Amino acid sequence: MRIRRVGVPVFLAVAAVFLALQACEGNGEVKTSKAGEDESHNHGKDCMKCHYKTGPGEGTWTVAGSAWNLARDGKYSGQATMKIYSEKGGKGKLYMSVPMDAKGNFYTSMPMDFKHNPAYVRIETASNTYEMPYQLVHGACNDCHGDGGTASRITLQ
Ligand code: HEC
Ligand code: HEC
Repeated sequence: MRIRRVGVPVFLAVAAVFLALQACEGNGEVKTSKAGEDESHNHGKDCMKCHYKTGPGEGTWTVAGSAWNLARDGKYSGQATMKIYSEKGGKGKLYMSVPMDAKGNFYTSMPMDFKHNPAYVRIETASNTYEMPYQLVHGACNDCHGDGGTASRITLQ
């Protein structure tokens, strides 16, 4: 009898973890861009116009955007990583590290709560680090940095 009573809370705990994972992304899988991968599209467009929970885009991105190549004034095609920290200067907690793909885009569905966590973004290439001087208020980078945005294009060397 005693052993059976222990069994129920364990089952409920497992079910709760399963439900929590389901809530993050349709099938519990976190999708993130990878170096060399070419699954993305719409360079410079605001990805979150389509990639929100009930939107038409496949995948619900929490952070996504595009970068340009200074020399060619086109899509950035080199290797780079977008990182979000809890403090300026690459200090504090590292929330995420997202590689740029082959199309000059980066995206992830990793959970990120901008409302309750101060967040600072920087992009690292082999030779440079580009840091945004302000706190991030949301992860739709192209809303400001993309086509028609009010901030400059994210241009990397
Ligand atoms: C106008 C709407 C729209 C915009 C803007 C948009 N997407 Fe999409 N995206 C879609 C749709 C619809 C699909 C699924 C069908 C397809 O692959 O075209 C998709 C699919 C994808 C996929 C493939 C997902 C998979 O599971 O195979 C990736 C990656 C992606 N988008 C990334 C991006 C990124 C990054 C941006 C911004 C730079 C972006 N999208 C902007 C509508 C959009
Ligand atoms: C609410 C608008 C806004 C959003 C959203 C935003 N930024 Fe920025 N960002 C700015 C502004 C304004 C500047 C500084 C002036 C400029 O570059 O136009 C800046 C600067 C930067 C810089 C420094 C540029 C340089 O040349 O040194 C980087 C890198 C950057 N942002 C990356 C990002 C990334 C990555 C995201 C998404 C995770 C993002 N930003 C989201 C407004 C925004």
